Amino acid sequence: MKVAVIGGTGYVGLVTGIGLAAHQNDVICVDIDRRKVNEMNNNILPIHEEGLSNLLKEAKKNNKIRFTSRIKDAVAESTIIIVAVGTLENKNGDADMSYLFKALKTIADSINEYKVIVIKSTVPVGTCEMAELFIRDNLRNHLCTFDVTSNPEFLKEGSAVKDFMFPERIVIGANSEKAAKLLTELYTTFDAPVLLTDVRSSELIKYACNCYLATRISFINEIAEICERTNADINSVIAGMKLDKRIGGAYLSPGPGFGGPCLSKDIKSLINFAARADANVGLLKSVLYRNELQITNIFSKICSEVPGSINKKVSVLGLSFKAGTNDTRNSPALSLIKILAGTKNKVEVYDPVVKGLEIRLPSNISIAGSLDSAVEESDCLIIMTEWDEFKSMDLVSVYNKMRTPVIIDTRNILQDRTAKEIGFRYIGIGIQSLSYESREEELKCII
Ligand code: UGA
Repeated sequence: MKVAVIGGTGYVGLVTGIGLAAHQNDVICVDIDRRKVNEMNNNILPIHEEGLSNLLKEAKKNNKIRFTSRIKDAVAESTIIIVAVGTLENKNGDADMSYLFKALKTIADSINEYKVIVIKSTVPVGTCEMAELFIRDNLRNHLCTFDVTSNPEFLKEGSAVKDFMFPERIVIGANSEKAAKLLTELYTTFDAPVLLTDVRSSELIKYACNCYLATRISFINEIAEICERTNADINSVIAGMKLDKRIGGAYLSPGPGFGGPCLSKDIKSLINFAARADANVGLLKSVLYRNELQITNIFSKICSEVPGSINKKVSVLGLSFKAGTNDTRNSPALSLIKILAGTKNKVEVYDPVVKGLEIRLPSNISIAGSLDSAVEESDCLIIMTEWDEFKSMDLVSVYNKMRTPVIIDTRNILQDRTAKEIGFRYIGIGIQSLSYESREEELKCII
């Protein structure tokens, strides 16, 4: 099929465009950013995703993909117009729809025959219907017909190509049979169940999924704190929970809180538009609140380990919001660094992939070139991202380099027993800290 992807060099647009081209569709990726379009024409990818570069080469070899800034031509030539522009969070937490409506205006100007417009960007419930009215009002050629549909994406950074090529489900929200049929046809070559529904439900499915994942993370982070207070062990608790098939084990790893460009943005947006629709959003608000608490709790742990806060060196390991990506948007590590900037500690940060930040760093914070230099003479090491390099670091050598051997492992990636045997003071998230013998006193407080 002939497909145009608007926002075609962005994260979702690019993976979608290249993925659909790999399924033998004729794809035109459109972007107003000419520099990125030029780079794509020279095979320079703006993002790193495993397998993407090979798929692109193959698609180009088969003449299945083109990159351009000429949106009018791309719309005119294609039957399916996928809109995958960013809907980032604005100041009050709403999704910023300005790029979306700019794209819709150009589409309305360019429609020359029947088109299916597919909104892939994450948008509040009702947006597709609003888009339909907007395009109708702005249509240059009033004889042309079109449908606006919803087709949310479920790609995870770091495994986006796999998620696109082997999806667990495809959700199509369409209020017209003609559009539903065309979109179903677009995905016939994918081996995945297709859920056909109305546009509003489809829009909400995306929010429900991301917010549910965030809820599980906040839930387990809260249980981990209860473990710390009651001296239970989060790993055992999770092991017991996930054996229940109704619960399962995904998104139950405690940590510094969820980060990245999507989960908290989508919760805030859902809270706002649901509240405007008079829905009660108490649960969603507390999911966000717990997430913010995680960083405060980690900072409290640092404060009790590094007293005095003068002439002490704190090493932060990890900058990206999770392993496998160089994305630092809403990264818990950055939130922590911002708090540490207000202390008198010298902070050295190391990440195997992120080598610099666009923000100006406060004078007490610097980026180390290697793990070794980050831990050298350190008084407290804080693991913020679950990179393999940190999982497999030589703990004996780290112990010998540090001035005070303290590890705060916010991802629970190290074996606490091994670390303790080497001589570290090891603090995880929800990990037991009291020995069996010293628990008697504790019992009096909690029962
Ligand atoms: C998320 C969703 O998982 C995707 O399905 C969705 O398509 C995407 O947002 C989106 O809306 O575009 P992503 O932002 O790539 O994907 O990140 P996740 O892998 O879901 O992780 C989010 C955050 O939760 C990370 O900071 C991660 O470290 C944290 N996390 C995840 C935990 O703290 N514990 C867990 O058990 C799992």
